[in-house]
This record gives sequence, structure tokens and C-alpha cells, in this order.
Amino acid sequence: MSWNPQQYLKFEEPRLRPAVDLLGRVGLTAPRTVYDLGCGTGNVTKLIAARWPQAEITGVDDSGAMLAQAAKNLPNLRWVGQSLAHWSASQPADLVYSNAALHWLPQHEQLFPHLVQQLAPGGVLAVQMPRNFEAPSHTAIAQTVAAGPWREQLSLMVKPAPVAPPQAYYDWLKPLARTLDIWETEYLQVLTGPDAVKEWTKGTWLKQFLDALEPAAAADFEAAYAERVRSAYPMRADGSTLFPFRRLFIVLTRP
Ligand SMILES: C[S@@+](CC[C@H](N)C(=O)[O-])C[C@H]1O[C@@H](n2cnc3c(N)ncnc32)[C@H](O)[C@@H]1O
Repeated sequence: MSWNPQQYLKFEEPRLRPAVDLLGRVGLTAPRTVYDLGCGTGNVTKLIAARWPQAEITGVDDSGAMLAQAAKNLPNLRWVGQSLAHWSASQPADLVYSNAALHWLPQHEQLFPHLVQQLAPGGVLAVQMPRNFEAPSHTAIAQTVAAGPWREQLSLMVKPAPVAPPQAYYDWLKPLARTLDIWETEYLQVLTGPDAVKEWTKGTWLKQFLDALEPAAAADFEAAYAERVRSAYPMRADGSTLFPFRRLFIVLTRP
């Protein structure tokens, strides 16, 4: 799917908050080799660099548009355009950090142990992923697919939730960990503007469906989806829209 940095950053603050919460749980004092996987526009990479100015930091992402923005904002960091499906660290990592990216990749049972193997002894893997795929914001996408003339074209794109329950990550990772901390937080996000939830998903999960359609059909799909989420997330009296959003956090230290 193609990424649109402007659309993604429309809700910069609520998107940044879990990234900051995750970073706050990394107890390293002076990591030297750090990777930010699925770094996007580098908004979080910037915070990592501010916390550990001596670290050698590499942002990895396969979106040219997102990386171009990252390189423009932070020309002194290292940016690598590559799919995470084939990524390995060029040298053992003190920190592998990833905010809101690994849910785009399948087969976490293999992926997560592979990421742990990229760590140096004592290194940390810190990951945050949305686990909100049963919420109306996401189920309305599948409903819109099933209810329109695009059903045949899009139905193969409707996939099971990509993020497993927390217990599954515990079972996969505990044998590889010295410490393992897994938790979930549901943020009560307060969004502003018209069709706020549609605008949110249009920056992420919805976009792949819109990209697959011709412009006129994409506009119809977007309008049909917007109607569904408008009733699931009604605007409050003060003009804001409440969008509860559950996220899964994992912080592991390698022995
Ligand atoms: C929701 S954005 C998060 C960006 C950044 N981590 C942040 O918190 O602002 C997800 C990012 O993951 C990247 N991504 C998704 N799948 C990827 C893959 N298979 N390989 C590399 N990057 C991927 C996208 O290009 C996008 O920039």
C-alpha cells in the first residue's frame, strides 16, 4: 500500500502518545546500536535520537514517501528503504524499537523470535501494535466490502486480525527472554473535525482498500464506510469524536 505522510500525521498527537509510552518503558542508559523498524516519517526516531544522542540510529521502512519526509526532517540519521519481511540487523542491536508497524507483517510466531535474534546480549526489543481489529472502525471496512459492487475485487484483502492475543507473544518470547513485559492500554482518543474516525483509518488500514479501487469507486467506498463509522462513533455535543483504541506493548530484554 502507498502511504500519505500528511494524512497519517493529521492525528499526530494521539499517534505519538503510545510511542512515547513505549519509549518510557525502555530502561537502557546508553544504547549504541539502535534500529527503528517501520520508522515512517521519523517522528519517533527523532525522540529516540534526542534521548540517546550518542547512539547510531537506523530507521528502516519500505515506503519511499515516508522515508523522504524522515530524511528531510532528520538528515543526520541513517534511513534504509527495505521491507521488514527480510530485515536483519547489520550489527547486533542494543535496541530494536518498533511503533505501529509490525502488524503489517504476517507470521509473528516466526517474526518476533527473529527480531530477538538481532539483539546483542542485554539488548531490548520494544514493540507497540494496535490490537483494535474487532472495533467498529475496522469491522466496518469488512462490512463495506461485503455490501458493495467491489465485493469480489476486495474480499481477498479482508484478512484475519494480524496481531495475536498477548498470551501468544508471551509463549513465543518467554523462552528467549531475560525479562519480558507485555501489557495493553486502551486510549480514549478524542478526535476533532468531521468524519474523524474515517479520516484516521484513511491514514492507515482503510487506505489499502481505497488504493485498490478506481477513483470514482474509491469515493463511493469511502462515503459508504464513513456512514457506518459515523453512527458507531457519533460526534459529541462539544464537536469531538471519541475513538477508544486498544494497543499491545511488548518490552523484552535478551539474556
Ligand atoms: C503506522 S506507520 C508508523 C510510523 C512510525 N513508526 C510512527 O510511529 O510514527 C507504519 C509504517 O510501517 C511501514 N511498514 C509497513 N509494512 C512494512 C514492511 N513490510 N516493511 C517496512 N516497512 C513497513 C510503513 O511504510 C509505515 O511507514
